[in-house]
Amino acid sequence: MMIPRRPASAVQWARVFIHPALKNGSTAVDATAGNGHDTLFLAEGVGNRGRVYALDIQDAALEKTSKALKSAGLLDRVTVLKLGHQEMDRLAPDQADAVMFNLGYLPGSDRSVLTKPGSTRDGIKAALKILGPGGRASVLVYTGHPGSGEESRVVGELLSNLDQREFTVQKMVFWNSCKNSPELYFITRSGEKYD
Ligand SMILES: C[S@@+](CC[C@H](N)C(=O)[O-])C[C@H]1O[C@@H](n2cnc3c(N)ncnc32)[C@H](O)[C@@H]1O
Repeated sequence: MMIPRRPASAVQWARVFIHPALKNGSTAVDATAGNGHDTLFLAEGVGNRGRVYALDIQDAALEKTSKALKSAGLLDRVTVLKLGHQEMDRLAPDQADAVMFNLGYLPGSDRSVLTKPGSTRDGIKAALKILGPGGRASVLVYTGHPGSGEESRVVGELLSNLDQREFTVQKMVFWNSCKNSPELYFITRSGEKYD
């Protein structure tokens, strides 16, 4: 599995956090499929008995994700859906072991299609509803692009108000190296441990 031994980017740190929540037979959601990199990571992690739901609202993203999965021979364990992540609580039949959000716009594509504060907040709420005991969710927020300040504020406010008896929330930033550092939240639902 693509787990970096020396994670450098926020994307890599998100995988390091999510990895222990995955085992053969797990259910996982990629809430922002994009180019499909996180979907591939989740598809490897859930094994041949698991299921991944990969969601995006852009056809270009769904095509790229499906193509990447097909080349890796993993398409059969992934349901690729044109669905906003704010609707995800309608689809996961079982409780999810992992949910990943990688916000912002699809690199190399239409920059006018990007995650928005309101639907991001609703998407995270939906993810928290379906996350099973011991399940983990990561939320990667980019800053610096127009609208990102409000998205960062909304996500921070929502997550700082979660009941600490039910969820643990940690936040990572690149403190000394980056003016507009990405913000990465690690959310764990209390309950059964996977390791
Ligand atoms: C930064 S990209 C994701 C990158 C992806 N995780 C990867 O590994 O390549 C953000 C994606 O979120 C998608 N998006 C925007 N609003 C959305 C929504 N409400 N529900 C689901 N996806 C959304 C965009 O279309 C875009 O493809």
